[in-house]
Amino acid sequence: MKRAIYPGSFDPVTNGHLDMIERSAKLVDELVVGVLNNSAKKSLFSVEERVSMLKELTAQYPNVRIDSFDGLLVDFAKRIHAAIVVRGLRAVTDFEYELQIAQTNHEVYPEIETVFLTTRLEYAYISSTMVKEFASYGGNISHFVPPQMVSRIYAKYGITK
Ligand code: PNS
Repeated sequence: MKRAIYPGSFDPVTNGHLDMIERSAKLVDELVVGVLNNSAKKSLFSVEERVSMLKELTAQYPNVRIDSFDGLLVDFAKRIHAAIVVRGLRAVTDFEYELQIAQTNHEVYPEIETVFLTTRLEYAYISSTMVKEFASYGGNISHFVPPQMVSRIYAKYGITK
């Protein structure tokens, strides 16, 4: 059974994340979307909210499961018996950071392999950080996130649209 983790903060989930989930789920038997619960970092959505939103948005994929983790990704991978980590590369600027994480994880847990998918061109510029910045000023985020997410994101900034 080939089980992979697609880890991330997903704060909030974007169209780019959903595209990655759809495409990587086709490559493995089971894809576990691992939502990082980073207590040191203030998030817009709680980990429970992020897990529940991802469950709603991926309900149509039978081999996708949503889980959360804190601590190291390699420990989560060991715990759920996943040997593959999937990450998206949007542009060359992602490469250095991703390479460092992948190599570190491989050094401490050689069984783990990181697989990179290049994001679709139309999603290459989208990031959760940019979505939050836009939303905080009431900017139009409907091109960046799934329709169900738009009002939930604005609501976090006290904006009703
Ligand atoms: O969506 P993000 O914020 O780019 O995801 C980053 C993530 C969650 C993949 C990365 O920060 C991570 O794996 N964090 C868990 C802690 C860990 O294992 N750190 C060591 C990596 S060198």
